[in-house]
Amino acid sequence: MAMPKNRGEKEEMESRPLVSTSVRDSSLSLFRMLSILIVFVVGVVIGLASSSHIGRYFTADQFFPSRAVVSSSDTNCTIVVNNCEKEDCLSLKSFISPKNLTHGLSDEELFWRASLVPQKVEYPFDRVPKVAFMFMTRGPLPLLPLWERFFQGQDVNKYSIYVHALPGYVLNVTSSSVFYGRQIPSKNVEWGSVSLVDAEKRLLANALLDFSNERFVLLSESCIPVYNFPTVYKYLTRSVHSFVESYDDPSRYGRGRYSRRMRPDIKLGDWRKGSQWFELNRQLAAVIVADTKYYTIFKKYCRPACYPDEHYLPTFIHMFYGSMNANRTVTYVDWSVIAPHPGTFSAENVTESFLQSLRKNATACSYNLKSMTNVCYLFARKFTPNTLEPLLNLSSKVMQF
Ligand SMILES: *[C@@H]1O[C@H](CO)[C@@H](O)[C@H](O)[C@H]1NC(C)=O
Ligand SMILES: *[C@@H]1O[C@H](CO)[C@@H](O)[C@H](O)[C@H]1NC(C)=O
Ligand SMILES: *[C@@H]1O[C@H](CO)[C@@H](O)[C@H](O)[C@H]1NC(C)=O
Ligand SMILES: *[C@@H]1O[C@H](CO)[C@@H](O)[C@H](O)[C@H]1NC(C)=O
Ligand SMILES: *[C@@H]1O[C@H](CO)[C@@H](O)[C@H](O)[C@H]1NC(C)=O
Ligand SMILES: *[C@@H]1O[C@H](CO)[C@@H](O)[C@H](O)[C@H]1NC(C)=O
Ligand SMILES: *[C@@H]1O[C@H](CO)[C@@H](O)[C@H](O)[C@H]1NC(C)=O
Repeated sequence: MAMPKNRGEKEEMESRPLVSTSVRDSSLSLFRMLSILIVFVVGVVIGLASSSHIGRYFTADQFFPSRAVVSSSDTNCTIVVNNCEKEDCLSLKSFISPKNLTHGLSDEELFWRASLVPQKVEYPFDRVPKVAFMFMTRGPLPLLPLWERFFQGQDVNKYSIYVHALPGYVLNVTSSSVFYGRQIPSKNVEWGSVSLVDAEKRLLANALLDFSNERFVLLSESCIPVYNFPTVYKYLTRSVHSFVESYDDPSRYGRGRYSRRMRPDIKLGDWRKGSQWFELNRQLAAVIVADTKYYTIFKKYCRPACYPDEHYLPTFIHMFYGSMNANRTVTYVDWSVIAPHPGTFSAENVTESFLQSLRKNATACSYNLKSMTNVCYLFARKFTPNTLEPLLNLSSKVMQF
């Protein structure tokens, strides 16, 4: 019965540019009549086939030949065909936490799936909130041994790791590493272009597929943790705010990058700037992956010297979710020298007093509105590969891991 109706719709769409409205109306009613006729005839035949000896000649497969095709593609519920054969494809376990990060979803498919949010408040499983550590890197992670020490001995139910490297790069770690099998399908990234936002969304979307992930932090190959895991976990999971730096910069590096073509959806007064290195809660992560409207405006009108990674999230969150944001970042970076790129720390900079200064900021910042704390930063960048040794030397004494 669906067949004639679909055909009518398709014809109508195809003929739209060619015929005038009145002609279309009359051809429409003709189609409607034809559809009714076809439905009637099909109905009569089905009735006959099911009620009498004609059934021998008209089997269900002939009327619905597509059914067999549909059921054969049902066998692929994920790309891991073998796993599916062994277990129930609709099991809750594989739905709430995909075992294998390798998948064949396009960005469009992935973002759609990741944007699905349960309506039910209670979970039908014991949900321990996780922190998703999302590494965006070109290639190797030179500070990986420091991160492995950071995660060593910690409860695997409290964190998950995702790595977005440039396509073709394979992270070479042993199967005992917490980074093993944590690379997600990636695409090329050009720094400063919207493809950087695409990679951020790809990390968020992959991490959203695990329903236990509650906090999402973006990191790079030059980032280090400045506190141990239990402190980072407590700080993030107990925060009522997300940490996305968002401020109004009246200079040409802020408002100067705004394009009036973004009106009326984004006004100059809405325009915000902030560091790319965000920390988001699950609700914000999902709305960002779901947003098409504002993403598209940035893709169109935010081109160098406008950088989408410095303006899209700060502006979007300010416009719609400002009250959920602390408006500051938890990733320290040194902008003390005015330059296009922040200060880089190398081996000679890594001393005990330097690390202590990162851990306790001279100026307190607010946490959950009511309290002030000197713990403003949980992570810091940019550290060169040669900082690994002095960092490993000092990690247990200064950072307690
Ligand atoms: C199932 O997935 C495999 C691997 O991606 C693919 O080669 C195959 O064509 C798929 N089969 C169907 C019926 O979609
Ligand atoms: C994940 O799936 C890919 C593609 O099917 C497969 O090659 C890989 O071995 C799987 N990894 C694990 C850890 O199961
Ligand atoms: C991966 O690392 C091991 C040990 O460090 C090394 O032997 C091996 O050649 C590496 N493999 C690749 C593909 O780089
Ligand atoms: C962050 O800025 C928004 C406006 O975008 C404001 O509503 C919110 O109260 C600020 N957050 C904090 C913690 O001050
Ligand atoms: C790192 O140390 C060098 C040498 O002491 C110094 O010149 C440089 O300013 C330091 N860098 C930063 C970002 O503090
Ligand atoms: C950390 O301290 C510096 C000055 O010592 C101040 O400019 C900065 O705003 C502080 N950071 C935060 C997040 O409060
Ligand atoms: C690491 O610590 C040891 C012993 O405290 C010291 O001898 C060594 O020079 C340190 N290495 C670096 C790179 O700081």
